[in-house]
Amino acid sequence: MQTVIKNPNWWRRRTTLERCLTLFSILLAIATIVLALGLGYALLHEKVTDEPAPASPKPSMTPAEALHGDSTVLNKVPAADGKSLAGGKGAADDVCFSKECVHTASNVLSRMKPEVEPCDDFYEFACGTYMEETNIPDDKVSVNTFSVISDKLQEQLKDIITEERPMTEPKHFRLPNSLYKACMNKTLIESLGTDPIVKIAESLGGWPLLKGDSWNADNTWTWQEQVKKFRRLGFSMDYIIDFSIGVDFKNSTVRIIDLDQSSLALSREYLVKGFNETLVSAYYDYMVDIAVLFGANKEQAKKELLESLEFEIALANISWPNEKRRNSSELYNLRSTQQLQQSYPYVQWVDYINALLPEGLQITEDEPINLSVPSFFDDLGKLLAKTPSRVIANYMMWRIHAFSVGFLTDEFRKRQLQYATALSGRQEQEARWKECVDIVTGSEYDELEYEDSLAISVGSLYVRKHFNQDSKAIALEMVNNIRGVFNDILDEVNWMDGKTKTEAKEKLHRMATHIGYPDEMLDNEKLAKYYDKLEVNPDKYFESFLGMNVFGTDYSFNKLRLPVNKTEWVRHARPAIVNAFYSSIENSIQFPAGILQGHFFSAQRPKYMNYGAIGYVIGHEITHGFDDQGRQFDVKGNLRDWWQPDTQKAYLEKAKCIIEQYGNYTDRATGLNLNGINTQGENIADNGGVKESYIAYRRWTEKNGSEPKLPGLEYTPEQMFWISAGQTWCAKYRKESLKMRITTGVHSPSQFRVLGSLSNMKDFAKDFQCPDGSPMNPVKKCEVW
Ligand SMILES: *[C@@H]1O[C@H](CO)[C@@H](O)[C@H](O)[C@H]1NC(C)=O
Ligand SMILES: *[C@@H]1O[C@H](CO)[C@@H](O)[C@H](O)[C@H]1NC(C)=O
Ligand SMILES: *[C@@H]1O[C@H](CO)[C@@H](O)[C@H](O)[C@H]1NC(C)=O
Ligand SMILES: *[C@@H]1O[C@H](CO)[C@@H](O)[C@H](O)[C@H]1NC(C)=O
Ligand SMILES: *[C@@H]1O[C@H](CO)[C@@H](O)[C@H](O)[C@H]1NC(C)=O
Ligand SMILES: *[C@@H]1O[C@H](CO)[C@@H](O)[C@H](O)[C@H]1NC(C)=O
Ligand SMILES: *[C@@H]1O[C@H](CO)[C@@H](O)[C@H](O)[C@H]1NC(C)=O
Ligand SMILES: *[C@@H]1O[C@H](CO)[C@@H](O)[C@H](O)[C@H]1NC(C)=O
Ligand SMILES: *[C@@H]1O[C@H](CO)[C@@H](O)[C@H](O)[C@H]1NC(C)=O
Ligand SMILES: [Zn+2]
Repeated sequence: MQTVIKNPNWWRRRTTLERCLTLFSILLAIATIVLALGLGYALLHEKVTDEPAPASPKPSMTPAEALHGDSTVLNKVPAADGKSLAGGKGAADDVCFSKECVHTASNVLSRMKPEVEPCDDFYEFACGTYMEETNIPDDKVSVNTFSVISDKLQEQLKDIITEERPMTEPKHFRLPNSLYKACMNKTLIESLGTDPIVKIAESLGGWPLLKGDSWNADNTWTWQEQVKKFRRLGFSMDYIIDFSIGVDFKNSTVRIIDLDQSSLALSREYLVKGFNETLVSAYYDYMVDIAVLFGANKEQAKKELLESLEFEIALANISWPNEKRRNSSELYNLRSTQQLQQSYPYVQWVDYINALLPEGLQITEDEPINLSVPSFFDDLGKLLAKTPSRVIANYMMWRIHAFSVGFLTDEFRKRQLQYATALSGRQEQEARWKECVDIVTGSEYDELEYEDSLAISVGSLYVRKHFNQDSKAIALEMVNNIRGVFNDILDEVNWMDGKTKTEAKEKLHRMATHIGYPDEMLDNEKLAKYYDKLEVNPDKYFESFLGMNVFGTDYSFNKLRLPVNKTEWVRHARPAIVNAFYSSIENSIQFPAGILQGHFFSAQRPKYMNYGAIGYVIGHEITHGFDDQGRQFDVKGNLRDWWQPDTQKAYLEKAKCIIEQYGNYTDRATGLNLNGINTQGENIADNGGVKESYIAYRRWTEKNGSEPKLPGLEYTPEQMFWISAGQTWCAKYRKESLKMRITTGVHSPSQFRVLGSLSNMKDFAKDFQCPDGSPMNPVKKCEVW
């Protein structure tokens, strides 16, 4: 398998005639763009005066009509705007000159590098100019097709959040504004200094390395009691044992308590390497410096934090790596609390769990518990037994102090940035407003699972202002077309037995679809009820944030005894995000409002652009239901093996091909090989997704006719589909963040998402006439779906 192959020989291989023709077509392309841009400009001005043609949108039309108008016109003839200019000449008959088309063409051309041979390196072909001309801003760790849209979204959210909301407006719309103000008030934050966290730390007995010998003078400290206090205060309770309430995988109509290996501050992959790994050293230095900023003696901090780091490394060492966590059956180990007590007596489980549950919710020793990694709990007992309380306490207090740093003064933030630079390459702090928007919308702080409580309020305001209802119907139509293709793929594959096929089809057809946002988000009564118990004080930033965590955790834990409603609106109410999701327990796909725009989707441009972008994404999410993890769940979202043994065997063979293909890619910048196992789910989804969308697009044109070209882009509609698909992944990363992504992530770096999936597609090779054995048309191809 090849990695990135640049082919400098391409030009030399061409004949003189070919070279002339190439040059000529490039010049022609440039001329066309210039022309098109000029015409587009002219049209904008004509529009006001010209009587529009019957099918063309009138300036005063509602978005709904305009959308419909344009999409019907697009199919056969240049869109309405282009009509008058094409007038009589006929040459432009199959080129769309509408404003949207010109705009799209310009975007495509600004990113691709047409002189690269597409059969050698399609990523370079589709994204080469983007790679050359894009600079990563100092405050970012990467830029990509998604981040361009998120940046715009962030500005829209800023306007929404900063709008003054008088007391007459409902509380749920005032909360974001209050939190934002708290976050923006740097004068207040500077004047408070370390007070907010220091006061809380005192109430928790203090940080041993700061207290010296006076810590735990009465010798009553236990980590179990500390976890209970963390929970009540709004800190994470997962530093030693990860505690959560989730849907029972084997009966997805009910919930269950999950206990899992600890949630670490640095990824396990790094920690287990110890001080050989530079990031572990960077982490250690960061710990020490932060402790010193809190007033610790440096030598003392070095000594005590080394022990605390060794404890964290030991936690990492007894945890399972991600490679071992893909088989959900192995993560499902039911125990009653009583059994738990016998096997792991180092915790009084009933008492411990009851203290973490919200008031009014109690368990007895019959309560079933899902223990995800039993070996971790065996080893944890031994580790805790040999580790002094002081070391454990130093570790736990380090974690909450580290968590508080983001809410403190510039002095702390500067040191935090230095550590972030080591981890991700980020050079500068983000503008304060950006950070505060992220805090309000829950885009920050992965450490806490329930903190994004204001996302619903902000999302509700966002969709009222910015979502075009008609996108919903068009996206739904695409979902159904692509689903139809997957159905036919299931019909055609020769490696599946009939019984497994029937189950797969049922799973496919009963997959729920959530597009845009749930209607309940527009219902103020529902929002008022949801936010009833939440308060935010603009003078208490850190405390307010902790209060939100308590609120979110209570909300989530209070569901323990309630039946699972898989279509519940609250679970699908984060529309202001540029992403898409598949849920195996819901058997559902979700496309939030935020992704139905920009590069991904527009109703007013040729459909090959949409099928290459949002269509690819839709296919990707559907295919997740049938990747190595998704396939373990049945139509109802239950963990149940519905695969006949031989079919399962054939599947694993096919997945192995993908694992080895991607596992053999080496990233040049970091010198690292991709992790074929951890990325297989995403890679299977990419490969299936782009194929399904391509076939769906072909069917669409068979029925609806071929679509026009875009100005300056002399490619067939099929070629344009692939270009759109390739450009979906144009991205630039800082080296550090790329290293992080390859080491810990489940997605392959963008370049390989393009090279890997397209080089497996026969149709791609056919559309670009790639010679057999060329890099993008290798003899050996992998295919799961
Ligand atoms: C910051 O907080 C202080 C203290 O509550 C308050 O007096 C001041 O008006 C706030 N500043 C801003 C810009 O909100
Ligand atoms: C058990 O808990 C772990 C950790 O929370 C989770 O990853 C796993 O999916 C759970 N299994 C079931 C069957 O709920
Ligand atoms: C799932 O749990 C519900 C409620 O306890 C129970 O009625 C149902 O039989 C269970 N279903 C399965 C498949 O175990
Ligand atoms: C660290 O590196 C040394 C020398 O290369 C090696 O002997 C040792 O095993 C490494 N330690 C770990 C934890 O990888
Ligand atoms: C990691 O675990 C292995 C046994 O599984 C043990 O031999 C090794 O010493 C541990 N390393 C650390 C750093 O705890
Ligand atoms: C997942 O784990 C179960 C239980 O150990 C095992 O029976 C099954 O074969 C595993 N599946 C795969 C695909 O490895
Ligand atoms: C589940 O949630 C949906 C959407 O919020 C709601 O319409 C439906 O009534 C709920 N179903 C049940 C059984 O509560
Ligand atoms: C690379 O591919 C070969 C066979 O083509 C396979 O044996 C090997 O395991 C692959 N390497 C990785 C890291 O997947
Ligand atoms: C043809 O286009 C119409 C309108 O977009 C659509 O409803 C229909 O599904 C398309 N046909 C196919 C086969 O995709
Ligand atoms: Zn995915």
